[in-house]
Amino acid sequence: QQLKLLTGKRVLITAGPTFEAIDAARGITNLSSGKMGYAIAKAALEMGADVTLVSGQTPLLPPYGAEVIKVTSAQQMLNAVMANLTQKDIFIAVAAVADYYVLNPSEQKIKKDAHILTLELAPNPDILANVMNLPEPPFCVGFAAESENLLEYAEHKRRKKNLPLLAANLIQDGFGGDENELVLLDDKGTHPLPRASKLTLARQLLRHVANMLPKSSTK
Ligand code: PMT
Repeated sequence: QQLKLLTGKRVLITAGPTFEAIDAARGITNLSSGKMGYAIAKAALEMGADVTLVSGQTPLLPPYGAEVIKVTSAQQMLNAVMANLTQKDIFIAVAAVADYYVLNPSEQKIKKDAHILTLELAPNPDILANVMNLPEPPFCVGFAAESENLLEYAEHKRRKKNLPLLAANLIQDGFGGDENELVLLDDKGTHPLPRASKLTLARQLLRHVANMLPKSSTK
């Protein structure tokens, strides 16, 4: 039984990978399974929150009680987040969003021939930065997956995006599996959460968030 630390709070979570089409059959994506974001959605529901989950493509079953919006590309994820942000108290960006999309994807399947094929990529909007730049942003939690220099790169991301809280994980720990290891970074320093199931870590992360919320933050 979880303490209902988030009763009355409205939480918006992004989860999973985005997919950027190359042609009718192919695209650019990544190895995010959605498990971390879905575990946070489940833990938030257990703690009494009202949960909206904006999810990239994943076969996972969403937790019972969450409002789920399925998206494919980063631009669709941005649109879904912005359209559902009113009156949210907390935004948690767990999704692994493609940094680039393919300019002019082909509507038909591209046929193979002997030539070199060049794809033109353009940068995607940063969803978390868009939310943080709102006049009155909700309490924002970012994630960072790094393959090296975890704390240094993660703290750099936290400061660049001016985030009150960021959860850092190593790519080899975070992507795909049922377990993970996190380090939480906030203005007070670093808080390691040792290896555990993603649901256990989600509960610990949300307890940390609940402690950081201003007492009158329900909008
Ligand atoms: O889904 P799983 O298999 O369980 O794996 C979980 C995870 C490893 C994907 C997750 O724990 C994680 O680390 N997610 C963030 C992945 C990442 O590397 O993000 P980033 O460093 O590209 O982005 C930093 C932050 O900005 C993230 O909160 C991201 O959601 C957000 N972002 C990034 C780019 C973009 N265009 N829009 C964003 O909102």
